[in-house]
Amino acid sequence: MIRALPALGLGGLVRRFTAPDPSLAVEALGLRFASPFGVAAGFDKDGEAVIGLGDLGFGHVEVGTITALAQPGNDRPRLFRLIPDRAVINRMGFNNHGAGDAANRLLRVRRARQRPVLGVNIGKSRVVAVEDATQDYLTSARALAPVADYLVVNVSSPNTPGLRGLQELELLAPLLTAVKEVAGSTPLLVKIAPDLTDEQVEKIAGLAVELGLAGIIATNTTISRDGLTTDPAVVEAAGAGGLSGAPLAARSLEVLRLIRAHVPAELCVISVGGVETAEDVQRRLDAGATLVQGYTAFLYRGPLWARQINTGLLRLRRSLVEA
Ligand code: FNR
Repeated sequence: MIRALPALGLGGLVRRFTAPDPSLAVEALGLRFASPFGVAAGFDKDGEAVIGLGDLGFGHVEVGTITALAQPGNDRPRLFRLIPDRAVINRMGFNNHGAGDAANRLLRVRRARQRPVLGVNIGKSRVVAVEDATQDYLTSARALAPVADYLVVNVSSPNTPGLRGLQELELLAPLLTAVKEVAGSTPLLVKIAPDLTDEQVEKIAGLAVELGLAGIIATNTTISRDGLTTDPAVVEAAGAGGLSGAPLAARSLEVLRLIRAHVPAELCVISVGGVETAEDVQRRLDAGATLVQGYTAFLYRGPLWARQINTGLLRLRRSLVEA
């Protein structure tokens, strides 16, 4: 449906209804975001719905995760709703058509007259050994940095064996250094897991500053199943995968605060995890997020979600001015 909006010529019509108020615009990463709120990675894996998502009011779309090699992802079922928790467990496994395919498509997206900021999130191809990860990331970075407004190194998805191990500093530092060199003038960010210890988060924040990265995205899904109200048998039956949505909110906010305490104000911190309402988005911004993203609540709240967030942000700010 979202993919079809521009093709049907409905983009302009929808945009008139959903366009964020100009006062919501944010300057970050040397770019202008029409809203601080965007779509997190995983929703538009291959960059097929970027324009339609922008028409719905998202200020940016982070496509991916894209890998150097096309891959089918894990067997289905691989996505499970935990409705009482307003959460999802997924083990998609980076299903995508590969970096070359995405680069061609995104080149066309960039030419659109009206489009959201385009982030591109890259990960390791499943068949590539962890020891060879850097070369694999570099293949993706070479193909995709030229078509991205910003590039993200994803080392935090739980569904590719060994991937999260790349968050260890002695592996992460050379990986990010190499990708940054290839990314050139395209801002580079790293996306981290909520399951890191506070100390690990602080160290990665320090590394990002030391390497001159443009920012950090926190967080990906969690492997924790703590604090759920869904029947444990249902959770158990879903099996392995990353948990996202409301139960992730507290840790995601905590990680944001930790990062912000350890990086300068200019560093872009994108907060993601369990955001549902305009109040949630504003809380992340107040805690030091430069931008905010969401995915799971989109599944529960539907296509008007971004518009609801944007109008809600405006309402919150107007009520502050009037108070
Ligand atoms: C994701 N997420 C994700 N992240 C990423 O970096 N690369 C990816 O390919 C995916 N894929 C993906 C698929 C599905 C089905 C979900 C639900 C999530 C994680 C996502 O970008 C985000 O970090 C988390 O979902 C937390 O945000 P929400 O969903 O709680 O708003």
